[in-house]
Amino acid sequence: MRGFINPFPIEIPTFKPKLELAVLASGKGSNLERILVDIKSNKLDANIKCLIVNKSDCGAINVAKRYSVPFIIHKHQDYNNREEFDHAILNTIKQYNIEGIVMVGWMRIVTNILLNEFKGRVVNLHPSLLPSFKGNNAISETLKSKVTITGCTVHLVDKEIDSGKIIIQAALPVLANDNDASLLSSVQYYEHEIISLGIALAAKEWRNK
Ligand code: GAR
Repeated sequence: MRGFINPFPIEIPTFKPKLELAVLASGKGSNLERILVDIKSNKLDANIKCLIVNKSDCGAINVAKRYSVPFIIHKHQDYNNREEFDHAILNTIKQYNIEGIVMVGWMRIVTNILLNEFKGRVVNLHPSLLPSFKGNNAISETLKSKVTITGCTVHLVDKEIDSGKIIIQAALPVLANDNDASLLSSVQYYEHEIISLGIALAAKEWRNK
């Protein structure tokens, strides 16, 4: 393919005991599926103990069903504010003995309720070369800006949006004839390449603390 990844370890770091993770998703679940494929093929030493979604019709649920991952639907509309919503998520996560949270296509702003309990152990995937194009419209903002190189990023989550420590990035060209769908597809090819590496590199840091 036409991009590159940095850092690019030859092997994904290994973990004994395996990482115990919760995944938060709002979308179709292609990154969740890639994580589960990497786990199944022994590339990532992890268990996805549960999936939390905020939409009852999101594709990630079907992925969870196919891989027998327990899933819980917490609709953000059912809560008065972001803190209450995060409390509900935290209560669910606590039932599963989780050491880290992975957000893949989680379209909600996270509060200190979650971040204080999981300091340095919340990982997010973002479809741009951060710090460029933060927020929920990264692909269309990238196209609008006419930049010629973009990418995707796995980073730690802190209280500023899409601003925590960068763990791994992939860079790729924006083609002259790209549209939202084609660029998303190219970016997601690389997201699938880096997501498990990103989780493992982040987890290596929290396990070594
Ligand atoms: C991914 O492209 C991810 O980077 C993006 O949502 C998509 C989810 O795809 N996340 C954000 O835009 C976060 N601001 P998936 O459901 O197929 O994994």
